[in-house]
Amino acid sequence: MNIIPFQKRFPENFDWGGAFASYQVSGCNNTNWSDWENSASRYLSLKFSGELEKYSYENFICADACRHDRRFVSDFNLAKKLGHNAIRCGSEPAKIMPAKGVIDTKEIKRIVKMVKHLNKIGLKPYWNLWHWTIPSWWENEGGWESPDAVSNFEFLVQAVVDALVPLGVTHFITMNETNVFAKLSYEYGCWPPQVQNAVAMERVTEALAQGHISAYKIIKTACPNSKVGVAHGLGNKQMTEDTAEQRAWKEKENMEWDWHFLDKIRDYQDFIGVNHYFRGIFGEHKAEVVSDLGWEMYPRSLYDTVTDVWSRYKKPIIITEHGCADADDSRRPWFLWESLLWLHKAMEEGVPVLGYLHWSLMDNFEWAQGFWPRFGLVGIDRKNNLKRIPKKSAYLYRDIIRANGLTSDIAQKYKDIVAYPKE
Ligand code: BGC
Repeated sequence: MNIIPFQKRFPENFDWGGAFASYQVSGCNNTNWSDWENSASRYLSLKFSGELEKYSYENFICADACRHDRRFVSDFNLAKKLGHNAIRCGSEPAKIMPAKGVIDTKEIKRIVKMVKHLNKIGLKPYWNLWHWTIPSWWENEGGWESPDAVSNFEFLVQAVVDALVPLGVTHFITMNETNVFAKLSYEYGCWPPQVQNAVAMERVTEALAQGHISAYKIIKTACPNSKVGVAHGLGNKQMTEDTAEQRAWKEKENMEWDWHFLDKIRDYQDFIGVNHYFRGIFGEHKAEVVSDLGWEMYPRSLYDTVTDVWSRYKKPIIITEHGCADADDSRRPWFLWESLLWLHKAMEEGVPVLGYLHWSLMDNFEWAQGFWPRFGLVGIDRKNNLKRIPKKSAYLYRDIIRANGLTSDIAQKYKDIVAYPKE
């Protein structure tokens, strides 16, 4: 194959890395999620849906996941070896705050050690404060519907900020995908606490917005030059034809899913963290390439998403999640390559994107689906002491980071895997 020479460089100081959530890589046994996973009703629903037979019960129990909190030194070193200069990681609320009004100093020491190691090897943390899990005691008090929800969150944030700001952490993600959490846990009822009530969903959304705004102020007080935002699930709604019906659909969907929460916190964010996986398209649509979860893989939608977010909010953007479940790594290299080309195009057109954090650094616990979907650049061999095994896409990504961009040399070197995936 003859590749025409090209170089698509990213700006200097661009942040490149991987992302993960504490619960998904380390687990925690006194949370809303672990209680749900271990409940009899969850067991029965897996049994009756046939999933238990298909994947085994173990698949659905997070336990200590990949034991990242015991192996963080080697995990961070591996990310560094794979070229990364940034990382999205975070703390587990139930470990930091095991009882109401109580901070566990051992856990604070652990996150301090984590950050000291990141500082030592030169990986810039995007520290995530809340990614869906809360301690059991808080859930029993009413979770995000509790009258104390915001003050619980403030207490948690203050403790983490007091520990990490003196170490130089400046980038904080207060919350992950409040929209997905509120919808799936409080409207559709498929995630804990399995509420199906649109009014409760709205109450929770409002509490989350207040929680974010308080956290924003706490972080800014501790570190005025910090950069604070949320990581938001953005799905990009697309029409197939420009009709009144489709325009109304797009507007409703965008508002409900994408903008509702971001509008509420509009004046309290220094960047917008974009978590993007797939577009939403009007009506019936047959996707050409899909991931193991059946999600459409359409690289251009990263471009469409960031351009839409920029035109609405005019805030710098960090890609805080983007990736795919692809156990045999047959589509990830192509998806990564093409998506980054589209991201570069958006940046050339003036969208200020400051970093790209791939989901995920390693295979991990994919919530209600359990361990079978494999999102990692690095594989985890669950039958062999959780051995970390970088996939081909991890090396492709490493070379892109080293070149700070996409070049014809890299395309040539990886020509067999960056090409459009064949059946
Ligand atoms: C979440 C992650 C999740 C990923 C893939 C995002 O919605 O923030 O925790 O693993 O998508 O489903």
